[in-house]
Amino acid sequence: MNPVEILENIYWVGAVDWNVRNFHGFTYSTHRGTTYNAYLIVDDKVALVDTVYGPFAEEMLKKIEKVIPLSKIDYLIANHVETDHSGAIKNVLEHAPNAKIVGTAPCEVGLQKHYFGDWNFQIVKSGDEIKLGRRSLKFIEAPMLHWPDSMFTYIEEDALLLPNDAFGQHLATSKRFDDEVDQKMLMDEAAKYYANILWPLSKLVTRKIEEVHRMGVKINMIAPSHGVIWRSNPMKIIESYLRWAKGESEKKVLVVYDTMWGSTDRMARAIIDGLQSKGVEAILFRVPTSDRGDIIKELLESKGVLIGSSTVNNGILPTVAPFLEELRGLKPLNKIAAAFGSYGWGGGATKAIEESLTKAGIEITFPALSLKWVPNEEELVKCFEYGKAFAERIIST
Ligand code: FEO
Repeated sequence: MNPVEILENIYWVGAVDWNVRNFHGFTYSTHRGTTYNAYLIVDDKVALVDTVYGPFAEEMLKKIEKVIPLSKIDYLIANHVETDHSGAIKNVLEHAPNAKIVGTAPCEVGLQKHYFGDWNFQIVKSGDEIKLGRRSLKFIEAPMLHWPDSMFTYIEEDALLLPNDAFGQHLATSKRFDDEVDQKMLMDEAAKYYANILWPLSKLVTRKIEEVHRMGVKINMIAPSHGVIWRSNPMKIIESYLRWAKGESEKKVLVVYDTMWGSTDRMARAIIDGLQSKGVEAILFRVPTSDRGDIIKELLESKGVLIGSSTVNNGILPTVAPFLEELRGLKPLNKIAAAFGSYGWGGGATKAIEESLTKAGIEITFPALSLKWVPNEEELVKCFEYGKAFAERIIST
């Protein structure tokens, strides 16, 4: 693949990783692969904004060489330490030994601890600027979005924001721009990215976007470090981030459960029928056969959450526990949640689920549904009615 000129004398020189299926230590499934985006800005001085994951270094270097000799790189802007963006810094420096690395103070510490290089480093803060010639690079620190070192680079002359991980999507494609790919798929991947990487940092996301607005930063294009570039309507992804950060979601219900001998499964299916009978979209995941990252993405977008488990040892099935633990960490805003499940003699799963929901900051405003042994026809009708009632609550809220 050749470099792609995204604006006059600004080139995408990144790499497409078609085959990666897991990210961040298997916490994030990347069904559609990803890209590592690096951007080359050619002016009187030449800057490379971010690099790529180490195994793709050669690919990036070859793209750069199609535009300029590598030795011409003056600045290597390190928006983020994580290795998927810094992994080729050493390779660049082998060819451009005088290039200066630019990043935040935590970035310098982080890069040193990752690569142990004695590099020429310039620390920048929010508002600092480097003049390249016709264009200037401005920097906006973005600590904890999503690492302490994170930073955005901004080019005022083009109203171009290079925010590294923020506004990205794990999406391998031969297309470089948002308007060239399927819109529903793009927003699904952007939502999954937010849910799995930025959700716990929502307050910081809102604060940073508001700060950028206050700074009067005009944005015509957002070029993140993963996925496609937002050029057709960059406000679309910014507004989506603000909506997700506020806990706004769709009138949709996520059903997450596991079952021992099938009774809780029968309950789940009857509940789903009840939800759908009121026209409410429902999505069901049996935890052991489902993907964690996909569930978290649906959780972000769903107003309602129903969690089911058979009772074992007076509590939940161990397979359901990790999802409840996720909820406690994410503390999702504005969700309506309830518990269901079958039991043999003592019960206890629904109570344990409700306790976890409370710890996740979710107030229990809808009763649990607990049934003994295998649900009979009458009890399945009860499950259906339960789904209907839950749907009505979602619709009316
Ligand atoms: Fe894409 Fe935080 O690295």
